[in-house]
Amino acid sequence: MDLKGRDFLALKDYSPEEITYLIDLAAQLKKLKKERKPHRLLEGYQAALIFEKTSTRTRCSFETAAFDLGMHTTYLNSSSSQLGKKESIADTARVLCRMYDGIEYRGFGQSKVETLAQYSSVPVWNGLTNEFHPTQMLADLLTIREHFPDHTLKGKKLVYMGDARYNTGNSLMFACAKMGMNFTALTNHHYFPDMALVTESQKVAKETGAYICLTESKVDALKGADVVYTDVWVSMGEPEEVWAERIHALSPYRVTTEVMKFAGPNAIFMHCLPAFHDTDTEIGKKIYDSYGLDCLEVENAVFESPASVVFDEAENRMHTIKAVMLATLADEKTVGTVFSL
Ligand code: CP
Ligand code: NVA
Repeated sequence: MDLKGRDFLALKDYSPEEITYLIDLAAQLKKLKKERKPHRLLEGYQAALIFEKTSTRTRCSFETAAFDLGMHTTYLNSSSSQLGKKESIADTARVLCRMYDGIEYRGFGQSKVETLAQYSSVPVWNGLTNEFHPTQMLADLLTIREHFPDHTLKGKKLVYMGDARYNTGNSLMFACAKMGMNFTALTNHHYFPDMALVTESQKVAKETGAYICLTESKVDALKGADVVYTDVWVSMGEPEEVWAERIHALSPYRVTTEVMKFAGPNAIFMHCLPAFHDTDTEIGKKIYDSYGLDCLEVENAVFESPASVVFDEAENRMHTIKAVMLATLADEKTVGTVFSL
């Protein structure tokens, strides 16, 4: 499997075999890290990390993964660089690719990361856009594989509750379709994914023997679910004014203890994080003061339950991002050595 030089902009650009390869590579890199076995296979390589939106997991994953591989990174954001205000994406790409071996971008429209990739001669990795969050998907797939005794993805049923029109919902729909997993968006119909994306993912699902389902009915959707997944109801970059409408429309689709009961005793709970599961955040407190709610998309009891694998998911961001950087920067032979370390 040779992925050298490839961009990583959306999971839909990768075949099921390539995705499986990246997950296998991440699992092996995770093992090496746990055994404290050095794997500095990209010594002297450099990556630029552009964050037009805030981040904890993605930034830390890129940085720690890069350092484990022997790389150096530079962090750039809109307020401390020329990006956006004084310099276009196309010009920024043409500058950075003269200095760096790879560029990570987190920002707004998917078209921005696509332009960056178009003008860059080095691999570009999507660290989240409004439409897609592909590095999150690799971590999620690895986590699901780890948590079921059969270690397989094919045939598993994932139910996504909440705002399914945004990056995480869209990406999960494609991730499931690619891997032969059944995907259900269980939410208010105004929050179903974009129909063009649904049609596109349904074509993929047909090839892998999976289905994509959109429904408002909890009882049917949750029956037999292996994974119940949610994300914040208001995403980065959205205006504060949408909170009232989101709370009204999506409260019936909060992940509660009852929801997990419908799903069954073996179902796991997933969330890309950060999550509003209590009032221990600035926004959490504000919501409590304004609406009297002590949680939003997930109840604290579910978040803290044994079914919750959210911190494994967070850790896996690092191992999977490491796999993406290694596979797209190194040649096939170098990447292959990871399996004999
Ligand atoms: N899940 C995720 O992307 O987290 P951050 O926003 O902290 O990077
Ligand atoms: N949908 C969320 C994902 C955060 C990782 C957002 O875009 O803010």
